[in-house]
Amino acid sequence: MKIIELETYEEMSQLAAQIIIQKVREHPTTVLGLATGSTPSGLYEKLVQDHVHNMTSYKEVNTFNLDEYIGLAETHEQSYHTYMDKNLFSKINLRKEQTHIPKGDAVDHLIEAQKYEERIQQAGGIDLQVLGIGKNGHIGFNEPGTSFSSRTHVVDLTPSTRQANQLFFNSLDEVPKKAISMGIATIMESKEILLLISGTSKNDAYKRLLHGAIDEQFPASILKRHPKVTVIRCQSPKQF
Ligand code: F6R
Repeated sequence: MKIIELETYEEMSQLAAQIIIQKVREHPTTVLGLATGSTPSGLYEKLVQDHVHNMTSYKEVNTFNLDEYIGLAETHEQSYHTYMDKNLFSKINLRKEQTHIPKGDAVDHLIEAQKYEERIQQAGGIDLQVLGIGKNGHIGFNEPGTSFSSRTHVVDLTPSTRQANQLFFNSLDEVPKKAISMGIATIMESKEILLLISGTSKNDAYKRLLHGAIDEQFPASILKRHPKVTVIRCQSPKQF
């Protein structure tokens, strides 16, 4: 893993954006894997600014998001569909058909998970996957104990993950209990991975990632086996 430590959230977002912009400019048909949450929203802001000022084009790019809550309509204000539309998709030249997010409101979630894997394969796999990390080491919504050989699947969110995401909802009760997430094996098949870690609340997770064993109880630890991972770490969190 290549580790880059920066001071501010702004610097982390800027560098992550540069890496993606360079990739898309060099390979206009890049398949991007995307994350949601607090950590990457600054990155998306930078991509939008660059698109407006430098006209980087996403005309031939395809995107696959890591995960979506089960039980929220796509149009729910806290769905990851809404997050991506608001933060990125509606602001760059990316048509809806080029964007892929698991359907949390599918009739059959198991079939949806399988179809999602097929869509990734049909697109030729993910070239560059953006990840955040949970305090408990989750990547995507793969919670501790998830098999390293897992593929896109239905997951039960842990109480700590639901609590961490409560700030986006009116109450803990409203936070969904399940999600569909790319599996760990799916993530590991990405050709390149960019892991963003911001804020002191992730100190323990960051230390464990660097110094801990590779262990299914800490899902992000598997990234140490991937040949091309860049970790960008900043101490300051996103300022709301
Ligand atoms: C989001 C995702 C999660 C988040 C993680 C960190 O699509 O898959 O793994 O990256 O929960 O979330 P934030 O960035 O809100 O701290």
